[in-house]
Amino acid sequence: MNNHRELLRKVTIFSQMSDKDIDLLAAGTVERIFEKDALIVGAEDPGDALFVVAAGKVKVVLYGESGREVILSVLRDGDFFGEMSLLDNQPRSANVRAIEPTRALVLSRDTFHQTLQRAPQVAIAVLGEMSRRLRRADESIGNLALLDVYGRVARFLLDLAKHDGVTREDGTEIRERPTQQHIAAMVGTSRETVSRALNEFQRRGLIEMDGKTILLKPGFEGADLTA
Ligand code: CMP
Repeated sequence: MNNHRELLRKVTIFSQMSDKDIDLLAAGTVERIFEKDALIVGAEDPGDALFVVAAGKVKVVLYGESGREVILSVLRDGDFFGEMSLLDNQPRSANVRAIEPTRALVLSRDTFHQTLQRAPQVAIAVLGEMSRRLRRADESIGNLALLDVYGRVARFLLDLAKHDGVTREDGTEIRERPTQQHIAAMVGTSRETVSRALNEFQRRGLIEMDGKTILLKPGFEGADLTA
């Protein structure tokens, strides 16, 4: 439980809580381990718990009838999920699947509700995170409606470079290039189209792909990337 307390402290939404409140929260928390690819939350299931990622990475995902996947978000250490069903009493809004082996802290509905009532700063932090997620969702809706597919692939690479990129003299390097399948599921297209877009960007000298890395050249942002 001490271990849970330290982990909970590192989670942004719980970081402002008093020691006493954190202890109460830690007492109502259990730990669960999920293998890579395990389904942690199934869309339409009833929701009775909140999950905090202690270590690992998960994707929030929807599946079409043909099995096609749309990734809504990727969450990592310190992020939480499963709050929506606990707040609106509706079934789970999406699937959540482990992308890596994942260790999660699980709070029951009662523990989550009691925490929100005991520590209003947690409620404010949860609302802050939900606002950030809504902003990102708004941006995605805008991108789907306003950019063509090459533009969306480019926007995805620019966002990734902004968060995880390393600046070099000749551009920005993304060291862990996601698979084409992953990019396709993030921007709402097929793997083949992503492959065509990346090859076209490379042919035009806007990016360089080498093994697992991808270098965005200085001219990439702002280039006319229409398909
Ligand atoms: P819930 O609906 O209980 O179960 C699925 C969870 O996925 C949901 O709560 C949120 O925690 C998370 N989720 C759903 N949509 C998004 C999104 N657009 N961005 C980030 N997380 C999401």
